[in-house]
Amino acid sequence: MGDRIMNTQALIDTAQALVADHKGLLAMDESTPTCNRRFAALGIPQTEDARRAWRELIIVTRGLNECISGVILYDETIRQHTQEGTSFLNVLIESGILAGIKVDMGAKEVPEHPGEKITAGLDGLSERLAEYAQMGARFAKWRAVFAIGEALPGHPCIEANAHALACYAALCQDAGLVPVVEPEVLMTGTHTLARCQEVTVQVLTSVFHHLQEQEVMLEGIILKPNMVLPGLNCAEHSTADAVTDATIACLLQVVPVTVPGIAFLSGGQSPQMASSRLNALNTVSKTPLPWALTFSFARAIQQPALEIWHGENVNVEAAQAALLHRARCNHAARRGAYTDAMEQSNP
Ligand code: 13P
Repeated sequence: MGDRIMNTQALIDTAQALVADHKGLLAMDESTPTCNRRFAALGIPQTEDARRAWRELIIVTRGLNECISGVILYDETIRQHTQEGTSFLNVLIESGILAGIKVDMGAKEVPEHPGEKITAGLDGLSERLAEYAQMGARFAKWRAVFAIGEALPGHPCIEANAHALACYAALCQDAGLVPVVEPEVLMTGTHTLARCQEVTVQVLTSVFHHLQEQEVMLEGIILKPNMVLPGLNCAEHSTADAVTDATIACLLQVVPVTVPGIAFLSGGQSPQMASSRLNALNTVSKTPLPWALTFSFARAIQQPALEIWHGENVNVEAAQAALLHRARCNHAARRGAYTDAMEQSNP
């Protein structure tokens, strides 16, 4: 706690830097099994060197720093080097991009609550945070997931995940790292937009209750929530305006004005949808919103580039162009300047 107070100004400065200049975050912190699954789907070898090559391709992309303020790395990645021998951390520091690190140990099944998961990783977390801070990381990420079902998510699962998120956030601030707090209500299911709004409000209310209990300094966090969306298999159509209104209403209801930034995850939306919805969120409100609304996308920035790269050296340049294109689209969406025409001029 004493350390948290000493770190106050640095934490505020880092959180502000993460949302400055209409930039956003690029999540490239897939765990090894998740990264391998995405590679396997495209026939890319699932080796440490292929993962390294893919992550190198991303961070050396020229111009990325004009749109991206921070990237989120995975433990394997934060220790890797480019083929020429420069550490990934130095590449990022030299390009003015802040390094973040995923520190949770994944969402684990709870046998007594079928269909629900609780995120693990508090054991030994202080020591891990201290090491990452010493290496040069400036922020961290912890993700909790909530599936929507008839009786899901249950109260105990919401409470357990919110409590863990708050403990993580407090430990991050003690270590001088800005916590990215990610409670993700999943898109899978047949639920309506209204049900997603109800669950997201419930989850975020519990998260902020626990953050306040743990005396987390809200000016020094970034919230990473889902957009409020109907389930992927929902029979009812929701208009783009309904989605925007539900998301803004939910956030205004539960997110304190002291939180500097809300960086949405993409959650399996198509890259174009994610950009277009972020754009709408940044244009709909007639009065200025209290927080910056930005992005912290993984799939919605990486996927088109990964499909082009396909594990082949000859495709590196084209993949980097596709990656930069998505970063630029989302940078534009933060200013409400994203248009269909930007997609037509896609390289
Ligand atoms: P997506 O944008 O692919 O949902 O990933 C965001 C993320 O960081 C998940 O933890």
